[in-house]
Amino acid sequence: MTNFTYSIPTVVHFGQGQIQKLGAEIAARARKVLVVYGGGSVKRNGVFDDAAEQLKSHGIPWVELPGVEPNPRVATVREGVRLCREEGLNGVLALGGGSAIDCAKGIAAGFYYDGDPWDLSAKKLTPERALPIFAVLTMAATGSEMDDIAVISNPETNEKESFAGPCCYPAVSILDPTYTYTLPAFQTAAGTADIMSHTFENYFSPIEDNYLADSLAEAILRSCIKYGPKAIQTPDDYEARANLMWNATWAINGFLKMGKPVSWSVHRMEHELSAFYDVTHGAGLAILTPNWMRYVLNERTEGRFARYGTAVWDLDAALPARRLAEAAIERTRTFFTSMGLPATLSEIGIGPEHFREMARKARIGGFDSTFVPLSVEDIVKIYEMSL
Ligand code: NZQ
Ligand code: ZN
Repeated sequence: MTNFTYSIPTVVHFGQGQIQKLGAEIAARARKVLVVYGGGSVKRNGVFDDAAEQLKSHGIPWVELPGVEPNPRVATVREGVRLCREEGLNGVLALGGGSAIDCAKGIAAGFYYDGDPWDLSAKKLTPERALPIFAVLTMAATGSEMDDIAVISNPETNEKESFAGPCCYPAVSILDPTYTYTLPAFQTAAGTADIMSHTFENYFSPIEDNYLADSLAEAILRSCIKYGPKAIQTPDDYEARANLMWNATWAINGFLKMGKPVSWSVHRMEHELSAFYDVTHGAGLAILTPNWMRYVLNERTEGRFARYGTAVWDLDAALPARRLAEAAIERTRTFFTSMGLPATLSEIGIGPEHFREMARKARIGGFDSTFVPLSVEDIVKIYEMSL
C-alpha cells in the first residue's frame, strides 16, 4: 500500500427522523442560509417542509434557489453566488441528490472567489475557502454527501467538469432513507449503477495489494446487486433504501482508493456524454461500463475480472480466468438492463457524430495511470462498441 492521509470532516446523521438534528447543526455554523433544490420533488414529498420546520424552529431565515437542473449548470451556480452576496447569507443548504449538493458546493466555493465560478470547474484554481455546506440527501447515487467533489455543466460550451477541495466537504449531511421512497424506478436504477461505477473505478486499479479496500468494494457491489432491484420493486423497503444510501456514501468517500493509485476511466467518458447530450449520469455509466470492461480485458487484467466474478457474482472459481472474466462482464451488463437501464447509446438517441471530440476531451487530464491506459483511439472504439 502507498502512504495516505484520510480525513473527512463531514458529520453524518443517518436514519429515519435524523432531520431533527439539522436545525441545531446549522445554527452552530450559519446565521442565514440559501436553500438549494431541484425541480420540485422535495416540495412534493415533504422533505422541504421538514427542513423548513427545522430552520424556523431554530430561528434561521433563508432564501430559496429552486430549479437546480439534473447535471447542474453553471448559470444556476452564478445565481446562487449572487443571492448569497446580496442577501448576506453565510451557509448553503442543499435538499436533493447530487445535482443540488454539487450546485451548493459550487455556490459555497464561488462565494469567496471574485471571478466567474466556472473558473473552478475549468481548474484555473483550487477552492480554498467555502461557506458551510449542509445536505439533506434524497437519492442514493453520487456520494456528494460525503465527498469534496462538485460536477458542474456548461451547456454553452458542451463542457461538464469537476472540481474538488477540502473546503467542499459538506459540514453536515442528513441521510434519511425514507426520503428516497419517492425516487422513481429509473433514477433508483441509475443511482445504483452510479454507486457500482464509483466502486469499479476504485477496484480496477493497477495495484492490487489493498485487501481491505478491495473486500469492502466487493461488499458494496454485492449490496447494490441485492438491494437495487429490491428498492425498484418495493420503493418503501427501508432495508433496501438504507443499504443503498450507505453504499453510495462509502463508494466514493475516499476509503476505497486509499493506499493505491487510482485514476478513473469510465466517468471521464460518461461526463462527455452528459456534456454533449445531457444524459442521466447513471444511465450513461450503465451503457459504457460493460463495454469498457470488455475493451480492457487482456492477459494482464483477466485475473482481476476473475476475482470480481467469483467474489461478487459467485461464479465457479474452478473455471479458467478468461471465462470467469467474460461471464462476470456479461453479468454486469445484464444486471443493468434488468433494472431497466439502457444497454446502447442508440437507445438514448446518441450517434457517432461527436465521438472523436468527446474522446479527445475525455483524454485531457490523462488516461496514462488508469487500470489500462487508453488513447483517444481506444476511447473512440469504446464509444463505438457502445452504439
Ligand atoms: O430535481 P428534482 O425535482 O429534485 O428531481 C430529481 C431529478 O429529476 C429526482 N429526485 C431526486 N431525489 C428524489 C427525486 N425524485 C423523487 N423523489 C426523490 N427522493 O431525481 C432526478 C435526478 O436527481 P440528481 O440530483 O440530478 O441525481 P444524482 O444524485 O444522480 O446527481 C447527478 C449529478 O451528480 C454528478 C453527476 O455527474 C450529475 O451531474 N456527480 C457528482 C459526483 C460527486 N459530487 O461526487 C460524482 C458522480 O460521479 C457524478 O458525476
Ligand atoms: Zn458517478
